[in-house]
Amino acid sequence: MKRAVFDRVGPPAEVLRVEDDVPAPQPGRGEVLVRMLASPINPSDLMYVAGRYGLAPRLPATPGFEGVGVVEASGGGLLGWLRKGKRVAVLNDRHGNWAEYTVAKARQVVPVPDDLPDDQAATFFVNPATAYIMTRDVLAVPSGQWLLQSAAGGELGKMVIRLGRKFGFRTANVVRRREQVDELKQLGADAVLVEGDGPLPEQVGKAVPAGVRYALDPVGGRTGTEVIAALAPGGRCLLYGSLTDEPVSFHPRHAIGNGVRVEGYWLATWARRQRPLAMLRLFRRVLGLMREGVLRSDFSATYPLEEVRKAVEHAAAAGKGGKVLLRIGVR
Ligand SMILES: NC(=O)c1ccc[n+]([C@@H]2O[C@H](COP(=O)([O-])OP(=O)(O)OC[C@H]3O[C@@H](n4cnc5c(N)ncnc54)[C@H](OP(=O)(O)O)[C@@H]3O)[C@@H](O)[C@H]2O)c1
Repeated sequence: MKRAVFDRVGPPAEVLRVEDDVPAPQPGRGEVLVRMLASPINPSDLMYVAGRYGLAPRLPATPGFEGVGVVEASGGGLLGWLRKGKRVAVLNDRHGNWAEYTVAKARQVVPVPDDLPDDQAATFFVNPATAYIMTRDVLAVPSGQWLLQSAAGGELGKMVIRLGRKFGFRTANVVRRREQVDELKQLGADAVLVEGDGPLPEQVGKAVPAGVRYALDPVGGRTGTEVIAALAPGGRCLLYGSLTDEPVSFHPRHAIGNGVRVEGYWLATWARRQRPLAMLRLFRRVLGLMREGVLRSDFSATYPLEEVRKAVEHAAAAGKGGKVLLRIGVR
């Protein structure tokens, strides 16, 4: 089979290569063998290859944390047997999905209905679940309240805007490219702020005079620092990415006197704490919101696995305007 692989961490477009004659992996008990159809290139995949992610690769390694495929075989166990022949969303933090065949835990593959296209099924979990959990579970933004978010024009940011429309919270959205302002307003953004238009605390003060108590930041650096500084007393910010790879800072007074809280969020940690039934409920909820278009992903390009270097270069480009998808097989 073919797979993308890297032998050392580094810039993805330099260190990734395609092997085209390796044996397919064998599933153990509680695992399934999946024939992969498609897998997106997420920022987490790029950071993993670059050695800048919370999970260190065991080299040589294949990237690809999510995707869609068909279960070809079970390594034993009831769940694996039940999944055989099903098209499934594959969550994989061990073997990597950028391969014609991969092995995943049976409980980390989720059957998807026939009417869900491969591209949406391939992006079933990482962004949709994160957008939903952060806004509806962790922050639980009440209806009518404002949420401030940076990187708002990315795929996850757009999901948060649509969730705001659906559940009645208002969004103040920070982008770095002015051309995204109209697009996000059409999507339902209540306010759109441009990074270069002045300090965010001032911009937020004008857009939301009553103050903002909820915030999300995946950028870090100056943007993340300003998002935290823009919070009203009692505000809470979730840091959930590090797109600039730079630290954020805030004055201790902000936390002491103003009671502002800054916390990290990682889907992997959240999921580990959930019972199987809670995960099932989440999958159903995500699927319903995907069908409604609330948790839908947009795509800018599709590449075959052989062109993985071109694909990762495209995925890392500023202003790419949608997910980049690897097409690995056909149904
Ligand atoms: N913690 C978790 O569990 C978890 C789960 C899912 C996702 N995430 C994180 O969520 C973030 C967004 O993911 P995504 O799939 O939505 O990515 P995406 O579709 O690639 O969008 C990224 C967005 O960030 C903007 N951006 C990139 N670098 C930036 C920088 N240096 N300064 C300001 N803006 C920048 C991009 O702006 P342009 O459009 O101008 O290029 C784009 O709007 C990533 O950091 C990802 O790792 C975290």
